[in-house]
Amino acid sequence: MTATTTAPLSFTVSHPAAPVPDAQREAILAEPGFGKHFTDHMVSIDWTLEDGWTNAQVVPYGPIQMDPAASVLHYAQEIFEGLKAYRHEDGSIWTFRPEANGKRLQLSAKRLALPELSVEDFVQSLRELIAVDGDWVPSGEDMSLYIRPFMIANESFLGVRSAQKASYMVIASPAGPYFAGGVKPVSIWLSTEYSRAGRGGTGEAKCGGNYASSLLPQMEAAENGCSQVLFLDAVTQEYIDELGGMNVFFVKKDGNLLTPNLNGNILHGVTRASIIQLAKDRGLEVEERPISINEWKEGFTNGDIVEAFACGTAAVVTPINELKGADFSVGDPNAPAGELTLSLREELTDIQYGRRQDRHGWMTRLDA
Ligand code: COI
Repeated sequence: MTATTTAPLSFTVSHPAAPVPDAQREAILAEPGFGKHFTDHMVSIDWTLEDGWTNAQVVPYGPIQMDPAASVLHYAQEIFEGLKAYRHEDGSIWTFRPEANGKRLQLSAKRLALPELSVEDFVQSLRELIAVDGDWVPSGEDMSLYIRPFMIANESFLGVRSAQKASYMVIASPAGPYFAGGVKPVSIWLSTEYSRAGRGGTGEAKCGGNYASSLLPQMEAAENGCSQVLFLDAVTQEYIDELGGMNVFFVKKDGNLLTPNLNGNILHGVTRASIIQLAKDRGLEVEERPISINEWKEGFTNGDIVEAFACGTAAVVTPINELKGADFSVGDPNAPAGELTLSLREELTDIQYGRRQDRHGWMTRLDA
């Protein structure tokens, strides 16, 4: 289903009777954790097959009413995005490549048979939320407001077909580092029993179902002392796809980078694309190709691969120093973060926090 509105939507705004008091908000912002606290408002836009996108609103944050027969509750017709608002030193509020997230939401919508929202309305929905909840954007090292746009099918109908009614919403949550240890290197668990995505499935869509299927293997990872799970391709169980919620990169001993190619099963990570660009700007080569699990295992052992890292909006760039499976472990859980990993992380976050020139025009100001 393509975008059914051409004119940009205009939003109505209503405020909560009792917003979070200033002192309580400041206490939350001082130690937000990840995904635990939510701002005073949310965005909501309705869609029907008949009328397209209507009823664009900023409303008080709170529970939503839903019919128990709403299709999302039965057939998981749901997609989402993740991006961050950063407070720059002068107090202004910015976000990173929001058009890329808007386009990816459209790609996910196509795959999940949901309606497409225009990129313009997507970006405007972020601006509308920041206009009322700007005070919720924390300042300080690695602090941000994590913004979670999502879309659900909410037609009350139990037949299995694409819903004729949907809602797009945006909520936001002040965030510190995604992993409790910050930029500390993490261990990764190789799942051999489960796959994340099969050929022709929903692997490259950002839909809740992909994350639901990663939860059991993610629990297995945690039981084995690992922060994230690694999935292989479902057909041969030989090639690396991605982690439970982030893309993966390797640094070869010649200093060049290696990452799995976008093969239909892998999320088109905005951070992934940006890292590739930053590496190329430095004159490094980035190979995007199938990478076998043995190439990682052997590379970590014989020194052909000198660094590995996970990347995503939430994880930013997180060093990996160990890969573990049921009967093996490679790397060293005590090894420090890799040099290139940290330097790419620094360059990316410097751009996001306005500490370095934004030479690609990636930043969009949200509060003006
Ligand atoms: C993100 O990085 O924004 C994601 O959606 C991943 C999720 C694990 C928080």
